[in-house]
Amino acid sequence: MGRARQERGNRNGLAAHFTAAQKGSLRRRVLGWYGRHARDLPWRRSRDPYRVWVSEVMLQQTQVATVREYFERFVASFPTVEALAMADETAVLRLWEGLGYYRRARQLRAAAKQLVEERGGEIPDEPEELRKLPGIGRYTAGAIASIAFGRRAAILEANTIRLLSRLVAYRGNPHTVAGQRMLWAVAEEILPRREVAAFNQALMELGSLVCTPVEPRCEECPLGELCLAKERELQDRIPRPKPQPKTIAVREAAVVIRKRGKVLVRCCAEGERWAGLWDFPRFELDAAEPGAVARELVARVREQTGITCKPGGLLQTIKHGVTRYRIALSCYEAEFVGGRASGGPSIVRWLARGDLSTLPFSTTGRRLATLIASMEKPMKHGRGGEVRERK
Ligand code: ADE
Repeated sequence: MGRARQERGNRNGLAAHFTAAQKGSLRRRVLGWYGRHARDLPWRRSRDPYRVWVSEVMLQQTQVATVREYFERFVASFPTVEALAMADETAVLRLWEGLGYYRRARQLRAAAKQLVEERGGEIPDEPEELRKLPGIGRYTAGAIASIAFGRRAAILEANTIRLLSRLVAYRGNPHTVAGQRMLWAVAEEILPRREVAAFNQALMELGSLVCTPVEPRCEECPLGELCLAKERELQDRIPRPKPQPKTIAVREAAVVIRKRGKVLVRCCAEGERWAGLWDFPRFELDAAEPGAVARELVARVREQTGITCKPGGLLQTIKHGVTRYRIALSCYEAEFVGGRASGGPSIVRWLARGDLSTLPFSTTGRRLATLIASMEKPMKHGRGGEVRERK
């Protein structure tokens, strides 16, 4: 059964897509489906705005399956706005380690501090007030206001962009200004007056479980009869794929410098990609020929840390992708020769190897830390103290 297109204007000056009867049907179907299929997720067990907020920030750019465990550990350590506001940034980043997009964590803590200073730790229920906080944009404000407080606020994120684009067969690029304007208008148009918390979560759940990026399960979709992409058999072409930026290959080096059972590490300064996270001295590598590489390592380590070292062998090359960068990180060993650890705006420290697990590390920094720890552990079935072969 197809559906007639609605061309009456709505409040945004954009064409409305649904009749009142269609909207009623859509809401009932979505809510009914959610009642039967909602996953039991840890942040859904209460409407505590703090928990809703933390979960929504974690869920930006990260899958539900990954967020689950991180969320439980995070709210166990920082159960309230006040606890988060008082926490050390290092402790917050340690619990975020591996989730990526670390700015989210730093902004979350900054927002908690702001709430404590300005509002006695109370989280506002108005989207406009929420948007005054660092890291809270239109989506997160709408999600917190609707899910925690039942306010009539629309949401639009990755899952709902896909779902709504298909529902109205939007063939443009949903990430452009025009695309966003159009899809926000659809989100506003279909928003019910009541049960907004369940409705918004239901849309995201439907996008996540049924209206999937590839091979959507249209036969299971409660909105099948209302979906224009399905009617026109355009599910595979909507939403239009994002143009992929060209990847850029980067060569980098990291150096493990040892001194009496300790290793040299630095905290990345404000403005660096991994600000607030720890890493081994690390930099982009220009030289290619071994002698020139060694000279470059010495010079760059000295510049970053104040330490003079004597480079040794290559431990491993780690391949790593961040956004459009394809990084080949060559990890070298080096001996300490002299100098005092000092890194200008960043903190440089000699760290006991056993303490590597206490600090938040960049993804590749952690991989390297794990590698050196494994090299120094006795082999499981070997003689005590035997050093494992290097890769
Ligand atoms: N993605 C973003 N927020 C979500 C939520 N609350 N439930 C499921 N998926 C989501």
